[in-house]
Amino acid sequence: MKKPTILFIDDQKSARDLFSRQLDPERFRPLTAPGVLAAEEMIRQEAPDVIVTDLRMPDIDGLDGLERFHALDPELPVILITAFGTVETAVEAMKRGAFDYVRKPFDTGELEIVIDRALGHRNLLRENARLRSEVARKSASDDIICRAPAMMSVMDLAARVAPSDFSVLILGESGTGKDLFAKRIHQLSNRATAPFVSLNCSAIPEHLLESELFGHEKGAFSGATNARAGFFAEADGGTLFLDEIGDMSPNLQPKLLRVLQNGEYYRVGSRRLTKTDVRLVCASNRRIEELVEKGQFRQDLYYRINTVRIALPPLRQRTEDIPLLVEHFLQKLRKTFPHVPSRLNAQAVRHLLDYGWPGNVRELEHVMERSCLVCDGDELRADDLPPEIRGTASSGVAVAERPYKDARRDFERNYFLQLLASAEGNIQKAAELAGIHRSTLYEKLAALQIAVERE
Ligand SMILES: Nc1ncnc2c1ncn2[C@@H]1O[C@H](COP(=O)(O)OP(=O)(O)OP(=O)(O)O)[C@@H](O)[C@H]1O
Ligand SMILES: [Mg+2]
Repeated sequence: MKKPTILFIDDQKSARDLFSRQLDPERFRPLTAPGVLAAEEMIRQEAPDVIVTDLRMPDIDGLDGLERFHALDPELPVILITAFGTVETAVEAMKRGAFDYVRKPFDTGELEIVIDRALGHRNLLRENARLRSEVARKSASDDIICRAPAMMSVMDLAARVAPSDFSVLILGESGTGKDLFAKRIHQLSNRATAPFVSLNCSAIPEHLLESELFGHEKGAFSGATNARAGFFAEADGGTLFLDEIGDMSPNLQPKLLRVLQNGEYYRVGSRRLTKTDVRLVCASNRRIEELVEKGQFRQDLYYRINTVRIALPPLRQRTEDIPLLVEHFLQKLRKTFPHVPSRLNAQAVRHLLDYGWPGNVRELEHVMERSCLVCDGDELRADDLPPEIRGTASSGVAVAERPYKDARRDFERNYFLQLLASAEGNIQKAAELAGIHRSTLYEKLAALQIAVERE
């Protein structure tokens, strides 16, 4: 650890020399200044940790000096040295923010004790400031709301891998929070102050993706009127988030693999290698193993991006998060909507818990928005929910006018979603509860378009 720097101010050279000689060189680095003005300069240049000053100064009154020091560094502890008869002024100085005073004549051991206390005080202030900014950073970052044990362990995993440079692959159905987690990993990493650059591989036409990623030289292809740095260059030192990585074309995959292996790449139209220091986070809502089996995704690339895998469970497998998320979204809506109900009635809650949420948290957010638009009371009721959420079974609406086929499908979908919820997503357990074979259950789920992870 660096030795703390102690700045001693006294107009007499003999006093300054004595201080420099007597202060324990093992523990402190002494600096001296003959007056307030010279001390100000030193505060700017040397950033001392503690100031020890005589209250009587030739150039500027000690009390004014105190204010000037604090203008430069508000948390700098100032210890005053007082001669007989100036104690009252010292007390006044402490009211104005001096840390403590020592009476002349003092011995160095006594002074060092006060210095130690001042340093402790300063560290505490610094620690508080650090915590404050950390809390501010955390609450500024997008909140991830969850309580379900499956999500808590995912949160924990994300926090543990964030500070490393491991590639992270985030898997999960649409709307489960993959973007949110990618950002969280960046925010919790040592790269938090560097850029977070995100690119959706499926949103960009194949022929443009390469130059978007790696940049290009001017004139590299028709239309390339200007050179472009590319996303790898933009994310240098930070995190690159490649969303829908499963959609990356087979032509581009070896190029991405090379960057991951060697940390360098060619810009389109250039023969010079460009170095890069980027942490990669990828996401996909498709099962990449299947793409690997089908030969659509390179196995070696898959291993590279999959150093750590974070699988976000679908919302129907963590229904205990639903009430929390509902509250979170209502609070969010209060900032922009003229009218937001303060509570939900029991039946509305029942529907929200029973529904299968194919669009996961994003769908829940939209449902809350739409429901708040139609709700005019202080309580959100089942009728305010969109029809697909209300389902048919428990709402008591006449269902006889619908084709048997549709009604059965609704019933089955509802049944299997609740079954999965009761079995906490465990297929074997769900099959046992339903008294059917695993493979039959898989077929049913596929026919009803209920997505599950194959075990
Ligand atoms: N646990 C959560 N707490 C709060 N908000 C959440 C949570 N999970 C998701 N959301 C919100 O739901 C929406 C969808 O999340 P996000 O975009 O991260 O999902 P995604 O998995 O990336 O979806 P897609 O596959 O469609 O890209 C966002 O508005 C996000 O803020
Ligand atoms: Mg996304």
